[in-house]
Amino acid sequence: MADLHIINHPLVQHKISLLRDKNTGTKEFRELVSEIAMLICYEATRDLPLKEIEIETPVAVARTKIISGRKLAVVPILRAGLGMVDGVTSLVPAAKIGHIGLFRDPDTKTPVQYYAKLPDDISERDVILADPMLATGHSANSAIKILREHGVKNIKFMCVICSPEGIAAVREANPDVEIYAGVMDEKLNEDKYIVPGVGDAGDRIFGTK
Ligand code: URA
Repeated sequence: MADLHIINHPLVQHKISLLRDKNTGTKEFRELVSEIAMLICYEATRDLPLKEIEIETPVAVARTKIISGRKLAVVPILRAGLGMVDGVTSLVPAAKIGHIGLFRDPDTKTPVQYYAKLPDDISERDVILADPMLATGHSANSAIKILREHGVKNIKFMCVICSPEGIAAVREANPDVEIYAGVMDEKLNEDKYIVPGVGDAGDRIFGTK
């Protein structure tokens, strides 16, 4: 079973507390999601392989290290996942960006794909899949399935807040996917919102309500 990483860093915890406040406005909410995504991405990229190179400093030749080999893509689940993209690309500017759009079928309550546009070479890339809220896990599992159908082998899932139910669902269906979350909340309510959560992350990022 792949690891579950709950980021206990004080900056992440502090910023998530600000996100939770119902009085935090759209601009601040969006900035906070992006900053938290950057901090979580820092942890999610901890195992990137390095290679040694030589660089001439003004003083001497240094044997030093740079990131080698593995190519990355970040794939937000639309729409709230878009709020996490800048945070990732600010640390990994060479990452390509794909998009997966899912909506919840009102009858079956299951996610239906309405959009998927992925880099041509996605099967050669490690993918960071991003969605701020891991609630039931259904969207995450659907997006992971779509990525696998495109040949992606190595997937990490990144979210700001997860529920115990969402973690269990993703780990059961996709035990090889490492999960990075800022915090684990208590539970889901009857509307499948995370409690205490932040409400609808998409509405709060885009100011639609
Ligand atoms: N999606 C959200 O935006 N918020 C939740 O609490 C759950 C899913």
